[in-house]
Amino acid sequence: MLSFHTDSIPEDLCYKLLTSLVAPRPIAWVSSISPEGVRNLAPFSFFNVVCDSPPLVFLSISKRDDGRRKDTAENIIRVGEFVINFVSEELIKEVELTSGDFPPEVDEFDIAGLTPMNSELVKVPSVKEARAWMECTLFRHEELFGYDLILGRVVNIRLRDQDLKPIGRLSGRFCKVFEINQGS
Ligand SMILES: Cc1cc2nc3c(=O)[nH]c(=O)nc-3n(C[C@H](O)[C@H](O)[C@H](O)COP(=O)(O)O)c2cc1C
Repeated sequence: MLSFHTDSIPEDLCYKLLTSLVAPRPIAWVSSISPEGVRNLAPFSFFNVVCDSPPLVFLSISKRDDGRRKDTAENIIRVGEFVINFVSEELIKEVELTSGDFPPEVDEFDIAGLTPMNSELVKVPSVKEARAWMECTLFRHEELFGYDLILGRVVNIRLRDQDLKPIGRLSGRFCKVFEINQGS
C-alpha cells in the first residue's frame, strides 16, 4: 500500500493524485460577460452540483500565474450571472482553444468560431453548438486560499435533446462517460 501525507508531498503530485481519484470530473464550459458586455468562454472541471433544492452548483477557479483573477471569476462576481454549456466529444477542440490565457478584451466565441445564442433568464449568451445549458445566477462568492469559489443558483435548464453523450476530465485528459446497465 502507498500512502501520501499531503503536507509533505510536492504540490504537483498532490494535484495528480486528487485528479486521478476524483474521476471523471464533469466539465463546465462557462460563458460570461464583462460589465462592458465583452463575451468570455472557458472550461472548468473543478465543478459539480452542491444540492438540488435549491439547485446549486460550484466552480473552483484558481488565480492566474501572476496572481490576477481569471476573467470568468471576475465577470461572474461583477455581473452576477453565467451559463454552463455542456458538450460532447465533437467540441473538444473548441473547449481546449477557449482554455487559452487570453486578455479580458478577447471574445473566445470568436476565437473558437462559436455561435452566441440568447439565453432565456440571464443576459449572458449560451453556446449554440452545445447540447445542454444551465443558466445560473451568483449565489455566493468566497475567496478560498488562492481560489475563487463560485456558488451558482441554477435558474433555467435547457436540453437540445436527451442524447447528452457527456465527456469528463480523467486526470489531465478528456474521457467519454458511459452508463453501466446495473444499479438503480
Ligand atoms: C478541461 C479543462 C478544465 C479546466 N478546469 C479548470 C478549473 O477547474 N479551474 C481553473 O481555474 N482552471 C481550469 N482550467 C483552465 C482554464 O480554462 C483557463 O485558465 C482559462 O484560461 C480561464 O479563462 P478565463 O480567464 O477567460 O476565465 C481548465 C482547462 C481545461 C482545458
